[in-house]
Amino acid sequence: MGIEKAVIPVAGAGTRLLPATKSQPKEMLPVGRKPVVQYVVEELVAQGLRKILFITGRKKRSIEDHFDKDPELVRMLTESGNNGLLEQLEYEKAEVSFFYVRQGLPLGLGHAIGCAEDFVGDEPFVVALGDTIMQPTESPTLVHRLIQSHLSHKSNCTLAVCEVPEDEVNRYGIVKPKLEEEEEFEAETLVEKPAKGEMASRYAIAARYVFNPNIFEAIRRTPPGMGGEIQITDAIGVLLQMGGKVRCLKLGPGEKRYDIGNHQAYFRAFVDFALMDEEYGYTVRQYLQRKLRGFE
Ligand code: UTP
Repeated sequence: MGIEKAVIPVAGAGTRLLPATKSQPKEMLPVGRKPVVQYVVEELVAQGLRKILFITGRKKRSIEDHFDKDPELVRMLTESGNNGLLEQLEYEKAEVSFFYVRQGLPLGLGHAIGCAEDFVGDEPFVVALGDTIMQPTESPTLVHRLIQSHLSHKSNCTLAVCEVPEDEVNRYGIVKPKLEEEEEFEAETLVEKPAKGEMASRYAIAARYVFNPNIFEAIRRTPPGMGGEIQITDAIGVLLQMGGKVRCLKLGPGEKRYDIGNHQAYFRAFVDFALMDEEYGYTVRQYLQRKLRGFE
């Protein structure tokens, strides 16, 4: 049995990126040539996930428009013979069904994932945060390895984790391993944004998850936590208390997560993707080198 359903939460308010996010979703901000959420969808589709649910909310309608087919635009570009631009719309042809459910109020990531219950039914499913790009996307990707691990260990939840510097643990959901192992480990406890020194671990949850449907029961039992929101980290803690098995997979060498949730991370992501651009990466690099030497 494989997994064919994925959930992308995109209903957050994006307040840390104001004013850019006052009237548009942060998940639609461009990084390089594409909006962030397009990278996320392409990553999932490349792993054979064919049913994708967006947990959406106020001011997020442009995400739905972006994944709609646009025959008018295609006809216009075809008639004008603009094949280069037509290629940019190739993503519209992906064999994937999109579904949308509204969160109503952004009451936290745990609450957002809870809105997927009817869609999910009784099979395991993937969750990928809509504001985080994973690189590289060539096989075998992180999501593929998460699915393999989840199914072979018969886990209830499998998380991607990456090591963060000591002084950044208070910005993430942090997992403490039961026993330290090479690439994977079983989780002992989890804390959302722990105070410095509170957790003897630097493993931050890295925006990609696989869950069994019993996460919904755990979410229902989870009270509001940090910021008054229902946190998915807390719900996974409840899942552990319910006797669930939670395993973590470390990002491999060369794998990188780009979370664009704040301005500094967004600027870094944009610079990296501009440098990786096939057509302009080289000239951007030259421009930056000249600029840093004070010539521009
Ligand atoms: P974040 O917590 O980073 O996003 O959630 P946010 O709440 O939009 O950020 P700030 O603090 O206001 O700047 C990570 C992902 O989860 C989604 C977000 O849209 C983002 O893609 N999310 C978050 C929801 O769908 N619903 C929520 O209630 C919270």
